Amino acid sequence: MATIKDVAKLANVSTATVSRVLNSNGYVNEKTKERVEKAIRELDYLPNDVARNLFKGRSKMIALFVPDIMNPFFPELARAVEDVTRDHGYTFILCNTDDDIHKEIAYLNALQQKSVDGIIIVSSTITTSSIQKIKVPVIALDRIVSSDLPSITVNNRDGAREAVRYLQAIGCKQIAHISGPEEVSNTALRMQGYLDEVKNEHWFKPSYIQQGEYNPDRAMEETKKLLTKHPEIDGIFVANDLMGVGVLKAAKALHIKVPDDLSVISFDGIALGEMITPSLTTMAQPIYDLGARAAEMLIKRIKNPNQKIINEEIEVELIVRESTRARS
Ligand code: RIB
Repeated sequence: MATIKDVAKLANVSTATVSRVLNSNGYVNEKTKERVEKAIRELDYLPNDVARNLFKGRSKMIALFVPDIMNPFFPELARAVEDVTRDHGYTFILCNTDDDIHKEIAYLNALQQKSVDGIIIVSSTITTSSIQKIKVPVIALDRIVSSDLPSITVNNRDGAREAVRYLQAIGCKQIAHISGPEEVSNTALRMQGYLDEVKNEHWFKPSYIQQGEYNPDRAMEETKKLLTKHPEIDGIFVANDLMGVGVLKAAKALHIKVPDDLSVISFDGIALGEMITPSLTTMAQPIYDLGARAAEMLIKRIKNPNQKIINEEIEVELIVRESTRARS
C-alpha cells in the first residue's frame, strides 16, 4: 500500500506539502497541487490518520469515556459533549468502557495513535498514571479520578442529605437506602449523605442499607428482600434513577403502594424517571450542563494546557413527582 512518502517522491515534493494538499491547510501553488493529486491517483494512496496529522499535529477529535452505555444517564451526558465539541469544529468519539481498565487503556492507546486532541473521562477504574502517558488534556467528569486532574461533578453528599431530609419532612419514619457500587466515588458520597442524616436516628439500622450496583434488577431483588424483612420501611432513598425503577417494580411485586405506603426518591434526573408511572421524585443532576461544561473546560485546556486545575461542583435539584407524598 502506497505511503505518503511514495506520493511525495512521485510528485517530487516534501511529505509536509502532501499533507497540506490532503488537508487543504497552508499554501500550495496550483501546479504543485496538481502534481500531488496526480500522484495520489496513480498510487491509489489512502491517507491514514497519522499522515493527516503529520502536518496538523492534531486530529481535531475529542473523545468521551462512559462506563455503561446502557444507563440512560450517559447518552444524555454524551449528547451535551457532542453538541459543544461539534460547535467548536471537533469530531466527537464515544467510548464505552464497561468500567474495565483494560478497555480503557486500549482506548487510550488507540486514541493516542489517532492524535486525539483531548479526552473527557467518566471512570471509577482508570489510573492517573495511565492518563499521564497520553500527553493530551483530560477532564474527569461525574466521578473524581484524582485531585490533580480537572473535574466537573455534582454535590453528591449534600444532594443525598437533602433527599433524606425531604423524606423525613413528608413524614417518613423508617427510611432505607439502596446504594450504588462501592468502587464508584459518588456512591460513597451519596451513602455518606444518607448516613449524615439517619445515623443519629433511634431507628437507624445498618440492615436498612442494601447494595444495588446501579443496576435496576439487582436493586429490585435487594428491595424485595429488604421490604419483606422490614415491612415497616416507609421511605427509600435510591442512589440513582435506574435503580429507582427497580425499587418501584419491587414495591409493585409486593403489592406495596407507592407513594401511599412507601415513598421513593432517587438521584440523577434522567428523562425515563418522568415517563414511568408513578413518575420518580429525584435529586436531578444538571446532566446536559455537566456534559457541556466538561466539553468547554476541555476545549479551553486544549488551547491552553497550562490553565489552572479546576474541580468544579454543580448543585443537584430536588424534583418532586408522583413517587413521594406527604403523610397525613
Ligand atoms: O446512573 C449512573 C450513575 O453513574 C449516575 O448517578 C452518575 O452520577 C454516574 O456516576
